[in-house]
Amino acid sequence: MLTTIFGFEMPTRLLFGHGAVENLGFECSLNGWASALIVTDAGVYSAGLTQPVEAQLQTQGVRYEIYTGVVPNPTIESIETAIPQAQDKDVVIAVGGGSVMDSAKLINAIRTHGGRVRDYEGADTVPAPCKPLIAIPTTAGTGSEVTFIAMFTDAAKHQKLPVVSRHLAPHLAIVDPEMTRNLPPAATAQTGMDALTHAIEAIVGVQANPFSDMLAFEAIRLITRYLPRAVRNGADDIEARGAMAFAATIAGAAFNNSMVGLAHAMAHALGGLYDLPHGLCCALALPVAMHFNLECQRPRYEQIAQVMGFAHTDTEVVPLPTATIQGGVWDKTFTAEDAVLRVRQLMSETGVPAHLIDVGVEVSESDLETLTDLTLADGSILFNPVQPTREQVKALLRHVATYTE
Ligand SMILES: [Fe+2]
Repeated sequence: MLTTIFGFEMPTRLLFGHGAVENLGFECSLNGWASALIVTDAGVYSAGLTQPVEAQLQTQGVRYEIYTGVVPNPTIESIETAIPQAQDKDVVIAVGGGSVMDSAKLINAIRTHGGRVRDYEGADTVPAPCKPLIAIPTTAGTGSEVTFIAMFTDAAKHQKLPVVSRHLAPHLAIVDPEMTRNLPPAATAQTGMDALTHAIEAIVGVQANPFSDMLAFEAIRLITRYLPRAVRNGADDIEARGAMAFAATIAGAAFNNSMVGLAHAMAHALGGLYDLPHGLCCALALPVAMHFNLECQRPRYEQIAQVMGFAHTDTEVVPLPTATIQGGVWDKTFTAEDAVLRVRQLMSETGVPAHLIDVGVEVSESDLETLTDLTLADGSILFNPVQPTREQVKALLRHVATYTE
């Protein structure tokens, strides 16, 4: 450790905690922002989650409009439709999950530098800093509030494409666990698995470094301990919501520097082709990708197993399926395989489907070819610790699709 040069960057200022949204008005006044566009989606809007944000703007006398047209796996059209509304505003405020925040980043880049969504595909495509952007997440998963990555979907090609630029990063992230309090159990579980995937892939990827490790291991500990509680009783267990919100944000900061890997490459392919939620796609792909990477990153997975194995609930240690506690001491050393088992266990404990077939998706042979192409074309795969062949990717996707063991 600490024998190689590494960099770490988190350009976003973070304001975290219960009631943090109540500082929004002050932030507007501090920065002289007199007009705002709230970017959100219909579900977040109808759940009333823009109301505390609007209340802050009203109190401060900030003129605002609301764009509710963000869609899951945001399309180019859904992003570009918001540009005229965003053009003359002092600040764009994203209120929502990953799709909303990613859309707002691209809306903000285009309102600053012009052009179309397509012009920004790829890395370092945003030429200079953007106008002010605030991200207020309503899920604990994506980490998009502190990353400089945005995904958009080419609906015609069923492909999710990335924009990666430090200038995309929100200027301010207001992470308030209250905003996630009423997120339904399935969405809580799936978005939590996205955060877990970020953390695990940040640790085993080729760009891992001690700074991102520190954040990612802590995220894994928190998710293992608190995700089941947030899923079971999220409306009342605000401690669990707070821990999950923090875990998602620090996992975001970790993978923003270390990037993600094979699980995300497969997840992007699945999300693009079947229009499924990103968190669900990550969960389906994660254990399969972990199993594939196991041999070349065995010590790292042992460390992950250790953290997951010893993550306590309030009253008890969560045992691995293959371990027991003898006199207060684990009866076994954690192996890399235990990390995969523990992820599978966490998925079943939180009601996350194990395979595509469980959500009613049957993968045809031609879909399998398409998914393989999309996975291999996805930039995330470049950061995976080992590069799979085409045949290997196809075989892995069969495992994601259905029960093959
Ligand atoms: Fe993700």
